[in-house]
Amino acid sequence: MKKSKTRGVLIAGNWKMNHGPRETQGFFSKLGELSATLEKGELSSLSEGRTKACVFPPSLSLGRAVELANRNPFPISVGSQNTHWEKKGAFTGEISAEMLSEIGVRSTLVGHSERRQFFGETDETARKRGEALLEQGFQVVLCIGESKAERDRGETHAVLLRQLEGALPAAQKGMASYLDGRLVLAYEPVWAIGTGVNATPEQAEEIHQWIRKTLAERFGAEAAGKTQILYGGSVTPENIETLLACDNVDGALVGGASLKPESFLSLVRAGIKSTTH
Ligand code: PGA
Repeated sequence: MKKSKTRGVLIAGNWKMNHGPRETQGFFSKLGELSATLEKGELSSLSEGRTKACVFPPSLSLGRAVELANRNPFPISVGSQNTHWEKKGAFTGEISAEMLSEIGVRSTLVGHSERRQFFGETDETARKRGEALLEQGFQVVLCIGESKAERDRGETHAVLLRQLEGALPAAQKGMASYLDGRLVLAYEPVWAIGTGVNATPEQAEEIHQWIRKTLAERFGAEAAGKTQILYGGSVTPENIETLLACDNVDGALVGGASLKPESFLSLVRAGIKSTTH
């Protein structure tokens, strides 16, 4: 199981609709305090980027989060949960990459299952976002995952293939060049999100391996080898180590367990540990 994490590890906290500006302030000040407990080696893993920590706060808290992250002793970056593909215009309720760049945000989630389930995100809109945002220099964390019913019907690979093919920017647009760390995939089985039932390390590794093989077939082994694939769905400080021990699990996208700074720190620590064994 053990290997060196050649792609580095990303621990990403998806805050969903939690933590307004005031709670965001509280999170970062506590995280800053907790950074004093990091050992020198842990801190250098973070500052040298072998392990990266990132949170995705709600839009309203992004400005505050960036300011607080920039002057935090804990190396951490901030991304958006949802970003429109157009630069500006009549799109009530949306925000653009240009606006996010202005406040220092250069990373975004795309195609999260809650966006798909509740807000009409499709593979096609995920593709539009991914394409436009990668072109604008953003890091894109593209989320894919099957439902419980789809898994039970044996359709997991077919669903993931449809989502990958539908959402990945077209190969002829130089897709492979984005597979240099800027495009990150997050495998989040819908049945594991917020349920307390995580995929087993074996289930996660099987899918991650399959995703990497699929990427290699389309974009070449080199590009596929550089692409981080995160696991998401009921990740906790208790189960993250065994998940990160899998060869093709390059980090985690974490909802509930990322909200408290103590718990987030434990997740990041596990990430650091996985890169140093
Ligand atoms: P969870 O959410 O960790 O609370 O299951 C994960 C996600 O939706 O990204």
